[in-house]
Amino acid sequence: MPEDEFVVTPWRTEGQIDYDRLIERFGTERITDELKSRLFRLAGEDHYMVRRSIFFSHRDLGSILDRYESGQKFFLYTGRGPSGHTHIGHLLPWVFAKWLQDKFDVKMYFQLTDDEKFFSKGALEMGDATQYALENALDFVALGFKPRNTRIIIDTRNIRTLYPIAAQVAKRLNFSNTKAVFGFTNETNLGMIFYTSLQSAPCFLEDDPVLIPLGVDQDPHFRLTRDVAPKIGRHKPALMHNVMMPALEGPGGKMSASSETGTIYTIDTPAQVRKKIGNAFSGGQPDKEQHRRLGGDPDVDVSYQYLRMFFEPDDAKLRKIHDDYRSGKMLTGELKSILIEKINAFLEVHQARREEARDALGEFLLEDDGNDRLGNGGTDSSSDGNR
Ligand code: TYM
Repeated sequence: MPEDEFVVTPWRTEGQIDYDRLIERFGTERITDELKSRLFRLAGEDHYMVRRSIFFSHRDLGSILDRYESGQKFFLYTGRGPSGHTHIGHLLPWVFAKWLQDKFDVKMYFQLTDDEKFFSKGALEMGDATQYALENALDFVALGFKPRNTRIIIDTRNIRTLYPIAAQVAKRLNFSNTKAVFGFTNETNLGMIFYTSLQSAPCFLEDDPVLIPLGVDQDPHFRLTRDVAPKIGRHKPALMHNVMMPALEGPGGKMSASSETGTIYTIDTPAQVRKKIGNAFSGGQPDKEQHRRLGGDPDVDVSYQYLRMFFEPDDAKLRKIHDDYRSGKMLTGELKSILIEKINAFLEVHQARREEARDALGEFLLEDDGNDRLGNGGTDSSSDGNR
């Protein structure tokens, strides 16, 4: 692929992504400074992922905030395609979703699309995808969500709830819509062709409009959902898009659950993290003498980017690391040590919470009896029932 070309679809990310061009290509809006300030004012706090434009783009965020200001509700939705273990890139939209939920006191649905990964990954059996769904759910719960206002949906287990809505969507999408958006061919299996309807379904579980924090690679599904929404008399989903965390091998690819060497999983041991970050792509010079003289390039340095995107929320500390690395005062090994320590400290806590989540998981799983929508009570604690 030519250097200035890139591909971003839900199933394939390649090349060095130019996010300004992606906004144009997808037809989304940049999250402007004005919109950031408005979000922070209403939330009563700011968030580094928005401040630093890790969440860089949106659709209709302004309308959601308008509604909120006039006392009307919205709800949150995001998800995961369980093709393997969770990696730290997946946590990015979920951590932000938790912040949104806390600040705006709203309901949250989390969809695990075991069917999608069965359709899209040739070698993956359905049972294994469902098993990964249950494992991935632990990572989500470990971030501190509460069953009071959060439900987890697993496609193969909750199809009774999803199907009637998915059918409404499917009837208004035709093959040429999805073909154009995803690059499908006549050889694409039918599961894949239908699938967008299922990812759309949770948008319409409640009467209020939904806000979806997600990686920008998932936007194409919701572009279709947004076209369909008015045709079925529903609100268009609003979106906030995050940039893709690069693979350990460096720019020109995203961290992906199916590439073991390019990925830090949430279940990695401290030694694995040390080894993986030790081998990660760096923006440093080939030797110490040159590095001291010429400095490093934080813009392409994977370790610096992980700190910026996730692991160092403190702007002053991040700025110092940036400047010291750029000037050559900080060596690549030193930068990597900072990151290794941060990741391992995070994972130690996360892994303990992940184990605790095994017992709590049942309380989060949607009951597929048609009565377990959060809309039937939701954040009102009197409706907690036995959860
Ligand atoms: P999946 O499993 O590919 O990814 C889960 C979420 O993580 C984001 N993501 C990343 N973010 C930053 N850096 C990365 N390297 C990275 N890799 C993945 C994805 O954009 C996504 O937000 N079809 C979906 C599952 C799904 C979903 C949804 C996602 C169902 N409903 C609603 C978002 C919103 C999937 O396979 O995601």
